[in-house]
Formats: sequence, structure tokens, C-alpha cells
Amino acid sequence: MSDAEASMKALKASDPAIYAAIKAEEVRQREKLLLIASENFASPAVLAAQGSLMTNKYAEGYPGKRYYGGCQFVDTAESLAIERCRQIFGAEHVNVQPHSGSQANMAAYLAVLKPGDVILGMNLAQGGHLTHGSKVNFSGTLFQSFFYGVNRETERIDYDEVQRIAEECRPRMLVVGASAYARILDFPRFQQIAKSVGAYVLVDMAHIAGLVAAGLHPSPIPYADFVTTTTHKTLRGPRGGVIMCKAEHARAVDKIVFPGMQGGPLMHVIAAKAVAFKEALSPSFKRYQQQVVANARALAAGLMERGYKVVSGGTDTHLMLINLSNKGVTGKDAETALDASGIIVNKNAVPYDEKPPAVASGIRIGSPIVSTRGMREKDMGKIVALMDRVLQHHQDSKVQSEVRAQAKALCKKFPFIYAYKASR
Ligand SMILES: Cc1ncc(COP(=O)(O)O)c(C=O)c1O
Repeated sequence: MSDAEASMKALKASDPAIYAAIKAEEVRQREKLLLIASENFASPAVLAAQGSLMTNKYAEGYPGKRYYGGCQFVDTAESLAIERCRQIFGAEHVNVQPHSGSQANMAAYLAVLKPGDVILGMNLAQGGHLTHGSKVNFSGTLFQSFFYGVNRETERIDYDEVQRIAEECRPRMLVVGASAYARILDFPRFQQIAKSVGAYVLVDMAHIAGLVAAGLHPSPIPYADFVTTTTHKTLRGPRGGVIMCKAEHARAVDKIVFPGMQGGPLMHVIAAKAVAFKEALSPSFKRYQQQVVANARALAAGLMERGYKVVSGGTDTHLMLINLSNKGVTGKDAETALDASGIIVNKNAVPYDEKPPAVASGIRIGSPIVSTRGMREKDMGKIVALMDRVLQHHQDSKVQSEVRAQAKALCKKFPFIYAYKASR
């Protein structure tokens, strides 16, 4: 019996309810086509580190400068995480302690801004993230937030418009990055705009970090004062955040993460971040990311061939938005029908959407998980055909159960347990 199996056996004996929930989630992940763009399957090595007894250790402070004794081994883990992250992205300073992407963003703001300062970010309704100034988030209540979006025709960021808005609102921080934008971001242009109005640049590369690590999306590092990321999306690590910055902000960033915002770091997660960063430095990771992009392109092309409107006409990354308004189905109904068919996506507003976010006119799909399972372009064609059938008959439960069986059969060809090996 492996260590992981022994741990699960112990869990089954001590807490059958949680054991059952985890097992049910395992079956869901094993048998369904998961197309949520922000999710991935972490490797067994990442899961082992994240599930390790490093969770038991308090380690407030930083390697070599802790407020607790007994930190020598967690220091090793954190130092390796920092060093490997620096090696991947080439940042001047790295802090691997943020518990999440949102907290990494909070740290970037609070390192240099005061409450009431102006920030300019991408509109949530057009692809941005909550933490980029949304009024329902700390970023929109603590700071005065303004927004840029995409051009109505091209559905791409209109940089002249960003410049115009920046001149109008004079931000202290220009926030770059998105949760639902499929195109290459022009970091030099953003830097130019920020410079012209005296703003700092924060690039939140949470979605594209894996692509950046593999050299498939330009790096923001030379153009940004702060770069934040999650570690669990394309980067394929444990859930968590990282903040990188120029050397001049290193002290401010470290101080705001701890003691400013957080207490003890999650040392088990930091150990798992180190494992994920080692994986990201391997040649197979680059091949994986290439497949992620190729698969996303195949999904977009296949859907467009069948008359679906892919926002901005395609994708350069791992994700895309599909505007379903010409297909007579809302994002919400599409999500529900696809879910019942074993295909998991999320409803998503499309640019200039007239429907409320809880209904939305579109869906967002991404290729990270199916690529981790080892699927390739021809398999994307099969997924497109299944999606199309469901969306054309979105109220037909017979179609849903047939597609559910087909989705399960396709997943079975790319076994979950061995998924990570298959993608290497
Ligand atoms: C661009 C972007 N930044 C930040 C986050 C927040 O990350 P977390 O959920 O870890 O707080 C997300 C999550 O979806 C994201 O898409």
C-alpha cells in the first residue's frame, strides 16, 4: 500500500463523511471533461507535499529570520521555492507566502498605496478580476477604482483608450491582467502608459503564468513593478499565490505580507509550490504548455467551424470566451446542460453583455486539465462535437445522458491517476 493509500484508509476510518466527499470528488474529476480555465490537476508530487506534515509547523517570518524555533526544514522548503521561482521568471525579488492570488494582489497594492489612492484595472465585466478594483471587493472599497475594457468591434484591449482613461483618472497603480481575456497582453505598452501618468505597474499573470514560464506568452517581469500570480492555474501547482517585484520594493512587499496581512505561512503549501516550480523548470513542462495552447486553438477553431462566436475571433492562450447569443441559449443554461452531460464549464459575461452576470451570454472554456490528461488536438475535435450536440439540444435529457456516457468514455482513455505521467 502506498503512503497516499494508507493516509486515505486512515481518513476513511476516522471521518467517513469527509472520506466519502473526497472519493466522490475524485470520481467527478476522473469521469468528467473539465474545461474550467482556471483549474488544473496538480501532480502526485505536489499533492504529497501539500498533504504533508509541514502543515504542523508555525514559521512566522522568513527563512533564517523566524519568530519560532525548529524552522530549519521549512526554511529549506521556502528557500527552494523562492530560488526556483526566481529561476523560472527572473524576478529581482520573490515572496512565496501569499495564501492566494487575491492576497498577492492585496500585498502589491498595500506595499505602495494608501487608502483612497486611484487604481486603474480591467473591467470585471470585460475580462478583469474582482481584485482589480471591483466595488464588491476590498480593491474597490479601499481604493478609488477606474476601469478600461475591450473595443466593441475587435473585442481586444484598446491601448489608446487605456491611455486616454489613464490621463483622465491619473492612477497611482495601473493593473494589468485578466481572468477572461484570450489575447497576448502588450506589457511594454502598458508600461509606457503607466510611465506617462506616473503610475506603478502591477501585472497579475495568474491565468497565464504557466505560459509565461514556458516562454509561450511574453514575460511581464521587465515591464512591471509588481507581478503577482496564483500557483494553481496553468502553473499546475498547489492553490496559492506569489508576489514578485523589483528590488526597490522588496522590503515593503515582505513587510506587508508578514506582519502586514498574514500570520504564519502555509509551509505545506510552500513546499508544494517548490515542487511545482521544479516541475515548471523541466522540458516536459514546456511541451505541456505547448499542448495547452495547441488544444485551446483547436477548441476555438472547431467551435468557430460550427458557427460559434469566439470572442475576439480566437485565442492566443489557454482559454476563450464563447458568445452564445446567436445560439439561443444563455451562459447559465449552457453551463447547466453541459454539466448534466459531463462537461464542466463556467457561464461568463461577454464584452458588452446585456444579460446580468448570473445569467450571462457566454461561457468560458480552457484547455489546462484536458491537456494534463494527455489529450491532443484530435480529442478537442471530439469535445467540440459533444459540446455542440448538447448546446443544440440543451433541454433534451436523452442527449445529455448519451453525451455523459461519451464524455466518460473519452476520459477513460486518458486515465486520471496516470494523467500526470501521460502528459510528461
Ligand atoms: C487574474 C486573477 N487574479 C487573481 C485571482 C485570485 O486568485 P485566488 O482565487 O487564489 O484568490 C484569480 C482567480 O481566479 C484570477 O483569475
